[in-house]
Amino acid sequence: MQTITTVREMQQFVARAKSHNKTIGLTPTMGALHEGHLSLVARARRENDVVVASVFVNPIQFNNEEDLAKYPRTLQADLDKLRAAQVDAVFAPSVEEMYPEPVTETYHFGPVEEVMEGPRRPGHFSGVAVVLRRLFDIVQPTRAYFGEKDYQQIAVVRELLRQLRSPIQLVPCPIVRAADGLALSSRNMRLSEADRKVAPIIYATLQEAVLLRDYVGVADAKAFVLGKLGLCKVFEPEYFEIVDATTLQPVSRWDEAGGIVGCIAVWLGGVRLIDMIRFK
Ligand code: PAJ
Repeated sequence: MQTITTVREMQQFVARAKSHNKTIGLTPTMGALHEGHLSLVARARRENDVVVASVFVNPIQFNNEEDLAKYPRTLQADLDKLRAAQVDAVFAPSVEEMYPEPVTETYHFGPVEEVMEGPRRPGHFSGVAVVLRRLFDIVQPTRAYFGEKDYQQIAVVRELLRQLRSPIQLVPCPIVRAADGLALSSRNMRLSEADRKVAPIIYATLQEAVLLRDYVGVADAKAFVLGKLGLCKVFEPEYFEIVDATTLQPVSRWDEAGGIVGCIAVWLGGVRLIDMIRFK
């Protein structure tokens, strides 16, 4: 496995792979890797000749200084995991290498970013798009792998690729969960022992809402989730939306769209957790 820190070296690696007509799978990450990230890498390994993973804590997608400062950085452990996962190259640039000049470009994605995370994290998806566009330009992957844990991010990336008329294939991958149902996240490390014990209630509540689908309407399913989590004072739900799986626009009836998902953001002990579930 090669560990590459400069854009030029990464471009040379890619040029060599392309000259041999190899397909390239890219898994962009911010490090602090867990089994969720590694499931994307494993899928990329199965589907491509060459696998590139990036590890870069992208400052411009954080709209909260404290969140950026507290973001876990575990590069050595990450490299060991990526080597074990048979990654060919890890791209781990410094902030100066990625952004030698101040970033001025912004991206707009319309309706898919105007819901849920969008209004609550101003500039977040534009910051994600800036870094992904650069990564895509440098690595020129055949396929790029993203987790459904960040469901709205996938919709934004799909829109970015459409706007760029990019041939890159977007590969959405299912959420990897702990045995008790909690979606794996690098932020889980920040939960206290007691909060970690109750955190699985989030996904359990989403599963109960899915069981209710045949009995109650969308508004009642939504009220059930927000009500149940809100009742127990340790959870502070920020939003729970039941939306069209493609457009991410809220639905009011179960027959309004072919695919429907529920997306949630909840605060637990000062940590913001997100999760999602498919209703149909
Ligand atoms: P990060 O939070 O490190 O996540 C990297 C990728 O791993 C994302 O596609 C995310 O959805 C996926 N992932 C995280 N937890 C997962 C889980 N439990 N199961 C399955 N997949 C999971 O998302 C980002 O970084 C950044 O926004 C990035 C795309 C790298 C741009 O900076």
